[in-house]
Amino acid sequence: MEHLNGNRLIGKTVIVTGSGSGKTGYGIGQAIAVLFACQGAKVLVVDVNEERGERTVDAILGNDGIASFYLADITNSNECKNVIKSVITNYGSLDVLINNVGVGGLGSVIDLDENQYKNVIDTNLNSMVSMSKFAIPAMVENGGGSILNMSSFVAIRSGGFGPAIPYALSKAGIIALTQQMCHDHGSDGIRVNCIAPGHIYTPMVENRVDENLRDLRRKAAPLQTEGTAWDIAWAALFLSSDEARWISGVTLPVDAGLLTASPLSMLDKLTN
Ligand SMILES: NC(=O)c1ccc[n+]([C@@H]2O[C@H](COP(=O)([O-])OP(=O)(O)OC[C@H]3O[C@@H](n4cnc5c(N)ncnc54)[C@H](O)[C@@H]3O)[C@@H](O)[C@H]2O)c1
Repeated sequence: MEHLNGNRLIGKTVIVTGSGSGKTGYGIGQAIAVLFACQGAKVLVVDVNEERGERTVDAILGNDGIASFYLADITNSNECKNVIKSVITNYGSLDVLINNVGVGGLGSVIDLDENQYKNVIDTNLNSMVSMSKFAIPAMVENGGGSILNMSSFVAIRSGGFGPAIPYALSKAGIIALTQQMCHDHGSDGIRVNCIAPGHIYTPMVENRVDENLRDLRRKAAPLQTEGTAWDIAWAALFLSSDEARWISGVTLPVDAGLLTASPLSMLDKLTN
């Protein structure tokens, strides 16, 4: 992990929601937690799955970083409040919140399951409202802070897993949430940004993506390479660090150029 080491977040305290790890590969939240710790941050790993969360903490501690785990279901607003309390109790302040939790949700308007729809909106979007509601006052007390929300290219273009109204709506809402929060809390020194990842190979998608689809996902974007959780983590590091002190309200696609492409513009790549 030596190549991850640096000092860009020395002295910062960070919460990363959904930063538990998969058994086989790195999720986006996990990569962010590990990279940020390697850059000097104290990291609170938050996840609904204890085993996954502890795996991330072990990876950080094994690299001489500072981290602890907080078990929480962030669809519950009270648990969000306790996450913030815990970071203040353990580390004294809060500088950076990464709202990363996200789950998939398929279905068209005709056939979506209403309960699943509500659960996806609660998990992906409403949880970010709750986490931010309790994080912002703590950041203001500390002189300001940075919030990064994880959206998706699917907020802007249809994705490849079939109709996905619950997922797409939740991810589009995150972009609006980012802009509104940037506007509402900028004068308090709070920066709010958003990343829209493209096709990233993580534990979230590995069960749904066979080798053929994996190859097509790679070929669908101009750079023709597969995205990893680390590609998102490095972008998150920049947006969360003081280097980005004048950047707020943006949605940054990290997608190998996917959003510039159309099915016809990529036809020769997709069929070769
Ligand atoms: N992988 C991709 O291709 C891709 C593309 C675009 C956007 N994204 C977004 O990036 C983010 C991370 O994706 P990933 O692929 O790393 O996912 P992942 O499934 O690997 O990790 C998500 C983590 O969130 C945790 N979690 C789920 N519900 C929770 C809850 N209610 N409370 C607390 N923790 C909870 C899970 O236990 C898991 O550890 C998500 O918001 C996802 O929508 C991913």
